[in-house]
Amino acid sequence: MRRTVARCFVTHDLPGPALDRLRAEHEVDLWAGLSSPTPDELAAGAADAEGLLSMLVDRIDAALLDRCPKLRAIANYAVGYDNIDLTATRARGIPVGNTPDVLTDATADLTFALILAIARRLEDAAAAVKNGEWRTWEPDKYLGHDVHGATLGIIGMGRIGRAVARRAAGFEMTVLHTSRDGVALDELLTSSDFVSLHCPLTPETHHLIDAETLAKMRPTAMLINTARGPIVDQRALRDALVDGTIAGAALDVTDPEPLAPDDPLMSAPNLIVVPHIGSATHQARADMATLAVENLLAALDGRPMPHEVR
Ligand code: NAP
Ligand code: GLV
Ligand code: GLV
Repeated sequence: MRRTVARCFVTHDLPGPALDRLRAEHEVDLWAGLSSPTPDELAAGAADAEGLLSMLVDRIDAALLDRCPKLRAIANYAVGYDNIDLTATRARGIPVGNTPDVLTDATADLTFALILAIARRLEDAAAAVKNGEWRTWEPDKYLGHDVHGATLGIIGMGRIGRAVARRAAGFEMTVLHTSRDGVALDELLTSSDFVSLHCPLTPETHHLIDAETLAKMRPTAMLINTARGPIVDQRALRDALVDGTIAGAALDVTDPEPLAPDDPLMSAPNLIVVPHIGSATHQARADMATLAVENLLAALDGRPMPHEVR
Protein backbone atom coordinates (compact mmCIF):
# COMPACT_ATOMS: atom_id res chain seq x y z
CA MET A 1 0.00 0.00 0.00
CA ARG A 2 1.35 3.41 -0.94
CA ARG A 3 1.53 5.68 2.04
CA THR A 4 0.35 9.24 1.91
CA VAL A 5 2.76 11.79 3.31
CA ALA A 6 1.51 13.30 6.55
CA ARG A 7 2.68 16.46 8.25
CA CYS A 8 4.16 15.77 11.70
CA PHE A 9 4.93 18.31 14.39
CA VAL A 10 7.79 17.27 16.68
CA THR A 11 8.27 19.46 19.74
CA HIS A 12 11.96 18.70 20.35
CA ASP A 13 14.85 17.18 18.45
CA LEU A 14 15.59 13.60 19.52
CA PRO A 15 18.85 11.71 20.07
CA GLY A 16 19.69 8.85 17.73
CA PRO A 17 18.63 8.15 14.16
CA ALA A 18 14.88 7.60 14.77
CA LEU A 19 13.66 10.97 13.51
CA ASP A 20 15.31 10.28 10.15
CA ARG A 21 12.98 7.30 9.78
CA LEU A 22 10.03 9.60 10.28
CA ARG A 23 11.48 12.13 7.82
CA ALA A 24 11.92 9.37 5.23
CA GLU A 25 8.18 8.84 5.10
CA HIS A 26 6.57 12.05 6.26
CA GLU A 27 7.01 15.78 6.41
CA VAL A 28 8.58 16.63 9.75
CA ASP A 29 8.28 20.06 11.27
CA LEU A 30 10.61 20.42 14.27
CA TRP A 31 9.97 23.03 16.97
CA ALA A 32 13.08 25.20 16.99
CA GLY A 33 12.58 27.24 20.17
CA LEU A 34 15.05 26.96 23.03
CA SER A 35 12.20 26.46 25.51
CA SER A 36 9.23 24.18 25.08
CA PRO A 37 6.41 25.67 23.04
CA THR A 38 3.78 27.61 24.97
CA PRO A 39 0.21 26.31 24.59
CA ASP A 40 -0.34 28.85 21.78
CA GLU A 41 2.89 27.93 20.04
CA LEU A 42 2.04 24.24 20.35
CA ALA A 43 -1.41 24.84 18.88
CA ALA A 44 0.04 26.91 16.04
CA GLY A 45 2.72 24.33 15.28
CA ALA A 46 0.29 21.42 15.32
CA ALA A 47 -2.61 23.32 13.69
CA ASP A 48 -2.53 21.38 10.41
CA ALA A 49 -0.49 18.38 11.58
CA GLU A 50 -1.74 14.81 11.35
CA GLY A 51 0.95 13.49 13.70
CA LEU A 52 2.28 15.00 16.92
CA LEU A 53 5.42 13.81 18.67
CA SER A 54 5.20 15.44 22.08
CA MET A 55 7.44 15.82 25.13
CA LEU A 56 6.15 15.27 28.67
CA VAL A 57 6.10 19.04 29.20
CA ASP A 58 3.59 19.59 26.37
CA ARG A 59 0.05 19.87 27.72
CA ILE A 60 -2.36 18.16 25.36
CA ASP A 61 -5.95 18.86 26.30
CA ALA A 62 -9.33 19.46 24.66
CA ALA A 63 -8.55 23.12 23.99
CA LEU A 64 -5.40 22.16 22.08
CA LEU A 65 -7.07 19.31 20.18
CA ASP A 66 -9.89 21.63 19.09
CA ARG A 67 -7.25 23.78 17.39
CA CYS A 68 -5.65 20.77 15.63
CA PRO A 69 -8.54 19.22 13.69
CA LYS A 70 -6.38 17.04 11.41
CA LEU A 71 -4.54 15.31 14.24
CA ARG A 72 -4.84 11.53 14.11
CA ALA A 73 -1.82 10.27 16.08
CA ILE A 74 0.03 11.42 19.22
CA ALA A 75 3.31 9.82 20.26
CA ASN A 76 4.47 11.00 23.69
CA TYR A 77 8.25 10.81 24.18
CA ALA A 78 7.88 9.41 27.71
CA VAL A 79 6.35 6.46 29.49
CA GLY A 80 4.24 8.78 31.66
CA TYR A 81 1.27 10.42 29.94
CA ASP A 82 -0.20 12.63 32.65
CA ASN A 83 0.38 15.59 30.30
CA ILE A 84 -2.30 14.22 27.97
CA ASP A 85 -6.04 14.37 28.57
CA LEU A 86 -6.97 10.85 27.47
CA THR A 87 -10.69 11.57 27.75
CA ALA A 88 -10.23 14.29 25.13
CA THR A 89 -8.08 12.15 22.80
CA ARG A 90 -10.44 9.17 23.10
CA ALA A 91 -13.46 11.35 22.36
CA ARG A 92 -11.75 12.31 19.08
CA GLY A 93 -10.53 8.79 18.30
CA ILE A 94 -6.86 9.87 18.40
CA PRO A 95 -4.52 7.09 19.56
CA VAL A 96 -1.81 8.03 22.08
CA GLY A 97 1.46 6.14 22.34
CA ASN A 98 4.14 6.07 25.05
CA THR A 99 7.65 4.59 25.48
CA PRO A 100 7.59 1.89 28.18
CA ASP A 101 10.32 -0.62 29.12
CA VAL A 102 13.29 0.94 27.30
CA LEU A 103 13.78 3.50 30.11
CA THR A 104 12.91 1.24 33.03
CA ASP A 105 16.46 0.26 33.98
CA ALA A 106 17.92 3.72 33.41
CA THR A 107 15.28 5.22 35.70
CA ALA A 108 15.80 2.51 38.31
CA ASP A 109 19.56 3.16 38.18
CA LEU A 110 18.96 6.88 38.77
CA THR A 111 16.63 6.04 41.64
CA PHE A 112 19.45 4.09 43.26
CA ALA A 113 21.89 6.88 42.58
CA LEU A 114 19.55 9.20 44.50
CA ILE A 115 19.07 6.74 47.36
CA LEU A 116 22.83 6.41 47.74
CA ALA A 117 23.50 10.11 47.25
CA ILE A 118 21.04 11.31 49.88
CA ALA A 119 21.86 8.53 52.35
CA ARG A 120 25.62 9.08 52.09
CA ARG A 121 25.46 12.88 51.72
CA LEU A 122 27.39 12.82 48.44
CA GLU A 123 26.44 16.33 47.37
CA ASP A 124 27.59 17.98 50.62
CA ALA A 125 30.69 15.83 50.88
CA ALA A 126 31.78 16.44 47.29
CA ALA A 127 31.13 20.17 47.67
CA ALA A 128 33.28 20.26 50.82
CA VAL A 129 36.24 18.89 48.87
CA LYS A 130 35.77 21.31 45.98
CA ASN A 131 35.32 24.28 48.35
CA GLY A 132 38.49 23.45 50.22
CA GLU A 133 36.52 22.89 53.45
CA TRP A 134 37.72 19.34 53.92
CA ARG A 135 40.66 19.41 56.35
CA THR A 136 41.47 15.82 57.14
CA TRP A 137 39.93 12.41 57.66
CA GLU A 138 37.79 12.65 60.77
CA PRO A 139 35.73 9.97 62.51
CA ASP A 140 32.61 12.07 62.90
CA LYS A 141 32.32 14.07 59.66
CA TYR A 142 29.95 13.53 56.73
CA LEU A 143 28.22 10.67 58.46
CA GLY A 144 25.22 9.26 56.65
CA HIS A 145 22.86 6.32 56.81
CA ASP A 146 23.32 2.71 55.78
CA VAL A 147 21.62 1.74 52.56
CA HIS A 148 22.53 -1.95 52.75
CA GLY A 149 20.13 -3.86 54.94
CA ALA A 150 17.68 -0.96 55.21
CA THR A 151 13.97 -1.17 54.43
CA LEU A 152 12.82 0.28 51.11
CA GLY A 153 9.16 1.13 50.61
CA ILE A 154 8.11 1.23 46.95
CA ILE A 155 4.87 3.02 46.08
CA GLY A 156 3.95 1.90 42.56
CA MET A 157 5.21 -1.63 41.96
CA GLY A 158 5.12 -1.46 38.17
CA ARG A 159 7.96 -1.77 35.65
CA ILE A 160 10.26 0.76 37.35
CA GLY A 161 9.22 -0.12 40.90
CA ARG A 162 10.08 -3.77 40.26
CA ALA A 163 13.42 -2.81 38.67
CA VAL A 164 14.25 -0.78 41.79
CA ALA A 165 13.29 -3.78 43.95
CA ARG A 166 15.70 -5.99 41.96
CA ARG A 167 18.53 -3.56 42.67
CA ALA A 168 17.54 -3.41 46.34
CA ALA A 169 18.00 -7.18 46.60
CA GLY A 170 21.70 -6.70 45.85
CA PHE A 171 21.90 -4.26 48.76
CA GLU A 172 20.22 -6.85 51.00
CA MET A 173 17.34 -4.48 51.62
CA THR A 174 13.90 -5.46 52.81
CA VAL A 175 11.39 -4.31 50.19
CA LEU A 176 7.84 -3.29 51.04
CA HIS A 177 5.24 -2.21 48.51
CA THR A 178 1.56 -1.29 48.44
CA SER A 179 0.47 -3.25 45.38
CA ARG A 180 -1.29 -6.62 45.38
CA ASP A 181 0.27 -8.95 47.99
CA GLY A 182 1.88 -5.87 49.54
CA VAL A 183 1.29 -3.95 52.76
CA ALA A 184 -1.04 -1.08 53.59
CA LEU A 185 0.32 2.40 52.84
CA ASP A 186 0.48 3.25 56.56
CA GLU A 187 2.60 0.19 57.29
CA LEU A 188 4.94 1.04 54.42
CA LEU A 189 5.34 4.61 55.66
CA THR A 190 5.96 3.70 59.29
CA SER A 191 8.36 0.83 58.49
CA SER A 192 10.54 2.17 55.66
CA ASP A 193 13.97 3.80 55.84
CA PHE A 194 13.54 4.93 52.23
CA VAL A 195 10.20 5.62 50.55
CA SER A 196 10.49 5.67 46.76
CA LEU A 197 7.68 6.81 44.45
CA HIS A 198 7.05 4.94 41.18
CA CYS A 199 3.33 5.37 40.60
CA PRO A 200 1.90 7.48 37.77
CA LEU A 201 0.51 10.95 38.47
CA THR A 202 -3.27 10.58 38.58
CA PRO A 203 -6.04 12.28 40.56
CA GLU A 204 -5.55 9.52 43.19
CA THR A 205 -1.79 10.04 43.52
CA HIS A 206 -1.79 13.87 43.44
CA HIS A 207 -0.29 14.97 46.81
CA LEU A 208 -0.26 11.34 47.97
CA ILE A 209 2.74 12.48 50.00
CA ASP A 210 1.45 15.34 52.14
CA ALA A 211 1.78 16.53 55.74
CA GLU A 212 -0.24 13.58 56.99
CA THR A 213 1.72 10.88 55.16
CA LEU A 214 5.07 12.55 55.86
CA ALA A 215 4.21 12.55 59.58
CA LYS A 216 3.87 8.78 59.44
CA MET A 217 7.41 8.34 58.11
CA ARG A 218 10.33 7.75 60.45
CA PRO A 219 12.42 10.78 61.47
CA THR A 220 15.41 8.91 59.99
CA ALA A 221 13.59 8.11 56.74
CA MET A 222 14.22 9.62 53.32
CA LEU A 223 11.87 10.26 50.43
CA ILE A 224 12.90 9.58 46.82
CA ASN A 225 10.78 10.84 43.93
CA THR A 226 11.57 9.82 40.37
CA ALA A 227 7.87 9.61 39.42
CA ARG A 228 6.15 13.00 39.06
CA GLY A 229 6.49 16.22 41.09
CA PRO A 230 2.82 16.78 41.97
CA ILE A 231 2.65 13.42 43.78
CA VAL A 232 4.38 15.31 46.62
CA ASP A 233 2.98 18.35 48.40
CA GLN A 234 6.18 20.39 48.32
CA ARG A 235 5.18 22.82 51.06
CA ALA A 236 4.59 19.89 53.38
CA LEU A 237 7.90 18.38 52.28
CA ARG A 238 9.73 21.60 53.01
CA ASP A 239 8.21 21.74 56.50
CA ALA A 240 9.04 18.08 57.10
CA LEU A 241 12.69 18.63 56.18
CA VAL A 242 12.99 21.82 58.21
CA ASP A 243 11.25 20.32 61.25
CA GLY A 244 13.11 17.01 61.05
CA THR A 245 9.92 15.03 60.49
CA ILE A 246 11.97 13.11 57.92
CA ALA A 247 15.74 13.04 57.39
CA GLY A 248 16.07 13.81 53.71
CA ALA A 249 14.62 13.90 50.23
CA ALA A 250 16.04 13.33 46.76
CA LEU A 251 13.93 14.51 43.86
CA ASP A 252 14.32 13.98 40.15
CA VAL A 253 10.94 15.58 39.58
CA THR A 254 9.34 18.71 41.05
CA ASP A 255 6.27 20.88 40.62
CA PRO A 256 6.89 22.98 38.61
CA GLU A 257 9.91 22.04 36.51
CA PRO A 258 12.26 23.71 36.74
CA LEU A 259 11.81 24.69 40.37
CA ALA A 260 12.91 28.30 40.83
CA PRO A 261 16.23 28.61 42.68
CA ASP A 262 14.45 30.81 45.24
CA ASP A 263 11.57 28.39 45.74
CA PRO A 264 11.17 27.82 49.51
CA LEU A 265 11.81 24.10 49.08
CA MET A 266 15.28 24.72 47.64
CA SER A 267 16.63 26.06 50.93
CA ALA A 268 15.39 23.06 52.93
CA PRO A 269 18.13 20.94 54.53
CA ASN A 270 19.07 17.44 53.37
CA LEU A 271 17.61 17.88 49.93
CA ILE A 272 18.95 16.85 46.53
CA VAL A 273 17.16 17.99 43.38
CA VAL A 274 18.22 16.88 39.90
CA PRO A 275 16.64 18.01 36.61
CA HIS A 276 14.31 15.13 35.62
CA ILE A 277 17.10 12.88 34.35
CA GLY A 278 15.59 9.47 35.16
CA SER A 279 15.78 8.23 31.57
CA ALA A 280 18.73 10.42 30.59
CA THR A 281 21.18 7.87 29.20
CA HIS A 282 22.25 7.89 25.56
CA GLN A 283 20.82 4.42 25.05
CA ALA A 284 17.48 4.95 26.79
CA ARG A 285 16.81 8.27 25.07
CA ALA A 286 17.64 6.83 21.62
CA ASP A 287 15.44 3.79 22.27
CA MET A 288 12.60 6.05 23.42
CA ALA A 289 12.94 7.93 20.12
CA THR A 290 12.65 4.66 18.21
CA LEU A 291 9.47 3.69 20.08
CA ALA A 292 7.90 7.13 19.69
CA VAL A 293 8.61 7.17 15.94
CA GLU A 294 7.31 3.60 15.55
CA ASN A 295 4.12 4.58 17.35
CA LEU A 296 3.63 7.55 15.04
CA LEU A 297 4.48 5.65 11.84
CA ALA A 298 2.07 2.86 12.73
CA ALA A 299 -0.88 5.11 13.51
CA LEU A 300 -0.35 7.33 10.47
CA ASP A 301 -0.34 4.13 8.43
CA GLY A 302 -3.64 3.00 9.90
CA ARG A 303 -2.04 0.25 12.00
CA PRO A 304 -2.29 -0.12 15.81
CA MET A 305 0.51 1.64 17.70
CA PRO A 306 3.01 -0.90 19.14
CA HIS A 307 2.74 0.92 22.49
CA GLU A 308 -0.66 2.51 22.64
CA VAL A 309 -1.85 3.88 25.96
CA ARG A 310 -5.18 2.27 26.81
P1 NAP B 1 3.92 1.24 35.32
O1 NAP B 1 4.60 -0.02 34.89
O2 NAP B 1 2.55 1.53 34.80
O3 NAP B 1 3.92 1.26 36.92
C1 NAP B 1 3.16 2.12 37.68
C2 NAP B 1 2.65 1.34 38.88
O4 NAP B 1 2.01 2.24 39.78
C3 NAP B 1 1.64 0.26 38.51
O5 NAP B 1 2.03 -0.94 39.15
C4 NAP B 1 0.35 0.79 39.10
O6 NAP B 1 -0.50 -0.24 39.52
C5 NAP B 1 0.86 1.58 40.28
N1 NAP B 1 -0.10 2.53 40.82
C6 NAP B 1 -1.07 3.24 40.16
N2 NAP B 1 -1.74 4.00 41.02
C7 NAP B 1 -1.23 3.77 42.24
C8 NAP B 1 -1.52 4.26 43.54
N3 NAP B 1 -2.52 5.13 43.73
N4 NAP B 1 -0.78 3.81 44.57
C9 NAP B 1 0.21 2.91 44.38
N5 NAP B 1 0.51 2.40 43.17
C10 NAP B 1 -0.18 2.84 42.12
O7 NAP B 1 4.78 2.50 34.93
P2 NAP B 1 6.40 2.63 34.91
O8 NAP B 1 6.89 2.38 33.55
O9 NAP B 1 6.95 1.85 36.04
O10 NAP B 1 6.53 4.21 35.20
C11 NAP B 1 6.01 4.75 36.40
C12 NAP B 1 6.04 6.25 36.39
O11 NAP B 1 7.37 6.71 36.51
C13 NAP B 1 5.55 6.91 35.09
O12 NAP B 1 4.14 7.07 35.11
C14 NAP B 1 6.26 8.23 35.08
O13 NAP B 1 5.45 9.22 35.66
C15 NAP B 1 7.48 7.99 35.95
N6 NAP B 1 8.75 8.04 35.19
C16 NAP B 1 9.67 9.00 35.50
C17 NAP B 1 10.88 9.01 34.84
C18 NAP B 1 11.91 10.05 35.15
O14 NAP B 1 12.62 10.48 34.26
N7 NAP B 1 12.03 10.49 36.39
C19 NAP B 1 11.17 8.06 33.85
C20 NAP B 1 10.21 7.11 33.58
C21 NAP B 1 9.00 7.11 34.25
P3 NAP B 1 -1.72 -0.71 38.54
O15 NAP B 1 -1.08 -1.16 37.26
O16 NAP B 1 -2.38 -1.76 39.35
O17 NAP B 1 -2.55 0.54 38.34
C1 GLV C 1 9.74 10.44 32.11
O1 GLV C 1 9.51 11.07 33.08
C2 GLV C 1 8.80 9.54 31.50
O2 GLV C 1 7.65 9.45 31.94
O3 GLV C 1 9.22 8.88 30.53
C1 GLV D 1 38.86 4.03 55.78
O1 GLV D 1 39.33 4.44 54.73
C2 GLV D 1 39.35 2.90 56.50
O2 GLV D 1 40.38 2.34 56.11
O3 GLV D 1 38.68 2.53 57.47
